[in-house]
Amino acid sequence: MKRTIAIIFVLLATAGLVWWLTSSGDESKTTSQTQQSTSDQTQTAETGEVLSGVVEVQIQDSSFAPAIIRVKKGTTVTWTNQDSVQHNVVSDEDSPREGLNGPLLEKGKTYSFTFDNVGTYAYHCTPHPTMQGTVEVVE
Ligand code: CO
Repeated sequence: MKRTIAIIFVLLATAGLVWWLTSSGDESKTTSQTQQSTSDQTQTAETGEVLSGVVEVQIQDSSFAPAIIRVKKGTTVTWTNQDSVQHNVVSDEDSPREGLNGPLLEKGKTYSFTFDNVGTYAYHCTPHPTMQGTVEVVE
C-alpha cells in the first residue's frame, strides 16, 4: 500500500513538472514572437536572412533602420529620409566605394544604390558621423 502511494506521488509530481515545463516554454515562445514583430527589420539582419530585389532602409530619428542588412549581389537598396534634417549615405572609405556617395536628402527624398559586388559596405551620414550602417553583399 505504501508503495502504491509512492508511485502515485511520483506520477503526480512528474505530471506537474511536465505541465510546468510546457507552460513556461509557451510563455517564452510568445514573448520572443512579440519581440520579433515589433522589430521585424532588425530581426531580419540578426537572423541572417538574405534580402534581394529592392530593399528599403529608413532614415529616421537620425539613424538608419535597419542599420545592418545582408543582401544578395545585384540588390538595389533605397534609403528614404523621414527626418526634417538632411542626411546622406556615404561609404566610410576615403574614396567612396564604387560610388556609394549619396547627396544630402531633404525630408521624403530617396537615394538608391545597386550593390553589384560581394563585400561589406560600411557607411555613415556626413553631417552626423555617429549615424552608421552596413550592407553586407553576398552571392
Ligand atoms: Co544625418
